[in-house]
Amino acid sequence: MPYAHITGWGMHLPARILTNEDLAKMVDTSDQWIRERTGIRERRIASEHESSASLGAEASVQALRMAGISPTDLDLIICSSSSPEHIFPSTASIIQDKIGATRAGAFDLSAACSGFIYAINMGAQSIRSGSVKSVLVIGAETLSRFTNYKDRNTCILFGDGAGAFVLQASEKPGGVMGAVMHSDGSGADFLTIPAGGSKRPIDEVGLHTGQHFIHMDGKEVFRFATRVMAQSTLEAVTKSGWKLEDLKMVVPHQANIRIIEAAARGLKMPMEKFFVNLERYGNTSTASIPIATTEAVQVGKIRPGDKLVFVGFGAGLTWAALAAEWTGPLEPQTTRRIDPALYQPWARVRSFFRRVLRALEGIFFGRQA
Ligand code: ACO
Repeated sequence: MPYAHITGWGMHLPARILTNEDLAKMVDTSDQWIRERTGIRERRIASEHESSASLGAEASVQALRMAGISPTDLDLIICSSSSPEHIFPSTASIIQDKIGATRAGAFDLSAACSGFIYAINMGAQSIRSGSVKSVLVIGAETLSRFTNYKDRNTCILFGDGAGAFVLQASEKPGGVMGAVMHSDGSGADFLTIPAGGSKRPIDEVGLHTGQHFIHMDGKEVFRFATRVMAQSTLEAVTKSGWKLEDLKMVVPHQANIRIIEAAARGLKMPMEKFFVNLERYGNTSTASIPIATTEAVQVGKIRPGDKLVFVGFGAGLTWAALAAEWTGPLEPQTTRRIDPALYQPWARVRSFFRRVLRALEGIFFGRQA
């Protein structure tokens, strides 16, 4: 049975920075309150030209470059997002077209901030079953589009960004080990965007009362998060046959420094073993774990052979943890490959001609049907 290794990683963040001071001019809050209660100093906000798919595509190209593979090598793309481009088509399909992954199947996965862990696990299980060899897993968010910048309870928390992993099959033992996925839908109302789905399509009343924005009971979510982070980390470690002492690093969902500190206390692990970068990006939901991992690798805190746990929680309520031995590129690239970024212009041209061809088919053959 092949093992599923994490062989590529990447991140992409919008350039625009929204600081705590900026927010203090918009709502009744202060830099001090936000830093003390959350640890966040600033977050990134997508420009009008950026979207979950455009951020996700940039992160994907980086991850492919790291893995040393081409978009056309991919068999499957899974995109986790709480702010997808549309209800349908999937953001994964849009990214597939943008990066020129012509052979890959693509679908979105919705498990809020836990989604990236669910997605790695689904990608890894597809590899373990032998049905695919290369999977791109993306976490991409533009939650600023669903954030009410008049609501101080939520607008201080969220930021935009994307991260991606490449998973590849190898007979070499290692890679993704034990994972746990949990859900408790009885807590669905604690964190929700009430309107815009099939239960409550957006109407004038909904728009007027902000039902298309994030609504959150912060205290309940906080209580839930501090309960499940340590518990699920331990479950994933035990399932992998490891001990907590074996862990080099825990990469937690970057929601609030106090939640991460509570997890560290619960596990009796030093905070140095938890990678934290939420002060600069805020809570980027499902993108936070691949962004944090990419930075941890960049600064040398994660190296090949290290035993890691990714752990997160979010709306649903959902929570999940996954243990993995860090691999890096499977083998040094001996042959020169085309840079994955160079597929993007070609993919745009190909996509344009496909649309034209479909339109012409409609004109010439459509009426016969
Ligand atoms: N600035 C100043 N005061 C504020 C602000 C603010 N931005 N927000 C709330 N307050 C006030 C409240 O109104 C309250 O005032 P009151 O006592 O007069 O009523 C007081 O500060 C304390 O409010 P609490 O809600 O008790 O503050 P708390 O310490 O719980 O912090 C927070 C709030 C940061 C939201 C915290 O509860 C939290 O982080 N919860 C988890 C949220 C989370 O992680 N959500 C994302 C999940 S991931 C996903 O799926 C998207």
